[in-house]
Amino acid sequence: MKKVLLSTFLFTLFSQVSFAQNQTTVVTIKNNADAPTINKNIYGHFAEHLGRSIYGGFFVGDTSKIPNTKGVRNDIVKALKELKIPNLRWPGGCFADTYHWKDGIGPQQERPTIVNQWWGGVTEDNSFGTHDFLNMCELLGAEPYLSGNVGSGTVQELADWVQYTNFSGKSPMSDLRKKNGRTEPWKVKFWGIGNEAWGCGGNMTAEYYANEYRKYATFMSDWENTGGITRIASGSNSADYNWTEVLMKNIPINMLGGVGVHHYAVIDWAKKGDGVNFTEDGYFHTMQSALKMEELVTKHSAIMDKYDPEKKVAMIVDEWGAWYEVEKGTNPGFLYQQNTMRDAVLAGATLNIFNNHADRVRMANLAQCVNVLQAVILTDKAKMITTPTYHVMKMYSVHQDAKLLPIDFQSPLYTFNGESLPAVSASASKDKSGLVHISLVNVDAKNKNKIEIDVKDLGVKGFTGTIITSAKLQDYNSFDAPNKIVPTVFKGFENKKGKLEITIPPFSVVVLEGK
Ligand code: AHR
Repeated sequence: MKKVLLSTFLFTLFSQVSFAQNQTTVVTIKNNADAPTINKNIYGHFAEHLGRSIYGGFFVGDTSKIPNTKGVRNDIVKALKELKIPNLRWPGGCFADTYHWKDGIGPQQERPTIVNQWWGGVTEDNSFGTHDFLNMCELLGAEPYLSGNVGSGTVQELADWVQYTNFSGKSPMSDLRKKNGRTEPWKVKFWGIGNEAWGCGGNMTAEYYANEYRKYATFMSDWENTGGITRIASGSNSADYNWTEVLMKNIPINMLGGVGVHHYAVIDWAKKGDGVNFTEDGYFHTMQSALKMEELVTKHSAIMDKYDPEKKVAMIVDEWGAWYEVEKGTNPGFLYQQNTMRDAVLAGATLNIFNNHADRVRMANLAQCVNVLQAVILTDKAKMITTPTYHVMKMYSVHQDAKLLPIDFQSPLYTFNGESLPAVSASASKDKSGLVHISLVNVDAKNKNKIEIDVKDLGVKGFTGTIITSAKLQDYNSFDAPNKIVPTVFKGFENKKGKLEITIPPFSVVVLEGK
């Protein structure tokens, strides 16, 4: 009996391996008029008062020798504008539920300090506050997404913040804003009502939080009755489907602009593994955790569909990305990690999932933008580098606000030690000018994959391609070799009478452009 089981197992294993190596994956792209638009906000970012994200990252102060505009680094602004950053979430994260926004306005020298209890116990001097953040978003051309304090704040405090930033008429908060040097309101659209209410945001039950949400949302009007703000509920921890169910059931749809979901790709919370020195085992299990996003989005969507069949409420994956052990020698509370080809593959595959679920997923925020977790930018004093994840986000920015072209295919398997994952990930879109973009990821660490796509009906004549890959999965951009991993021209495809035959190398991300 044992023998039979073993030979069946070996047969399955070997057939899957050869499946991955020899098979051509046929991808069908549908030019479907009813398909949704991929909301540009899926390509959003996140900046928390955590480690060197704000201080030493974005913000160096206006007396710094590092070129800056009102204290914000010019090199970071330039890099993020090139990325077409659509929105930026701030000030947390866990920090948000300890943050009192009035501490961060008015003359710098009069601002009180607080202790950042979640992240390293460092003293926060509040020198980067509401004006600094919202003015920075204007520089970036990004929509601000403010996370309000529910855990340790008050309803009045959050309602006041909305009045301070958004009200153009005469009111106590708009007068205060004007006194602090800003006449016109910023008109902030996206407002989070707390963060991780099930954890650092107050350890609440879903039922308790749903009631709190209703109370906060009632008083968080946009003060001008134009319906101009989107209120976003603190969402579930990964696969906590009950959380989404309780929120959708108990909060009236007209009070709910979006429901969050947080999911980090982690091998094991007790043993997260190194960001650079990892084996194929570490890679496989990081990808296994990352690709769980497909199931999460599908199942949370199904729950939302029950209560909101017209899909009025957006799913907002406002924290996602890889989480490893901090880089050796750095403050464990600062969550600084390097970013390798593994992260590039993870980003490409996750963004394909979001694109393909654009009917419900309308915003997402990679955690985090600068110097924290899966960062797109790393800084070391005056030096700044962009990571492989940055390059993937930039390659994929072509999908922002483009119409989704739904795809259909059976992925071959990437098999490792008897476990398997889908090896190929893909999404496609057509933008307003008629350009078609197809993004493909080969997750397989060892084998190339052959893909065939019929492009006859897509209304384009020819294709060009861009690829990001490297010699080793563990390769990364360092301050000494900042351009080790950059996108290059991809020529691994042929257009045979309207059939694209593509060979995509192991652990690589490709974007094809058809015009
Ligand atoms: O991104 C780091 C932390 O992860 C955030 O502060 C928190 O919301 C999440 O647990």
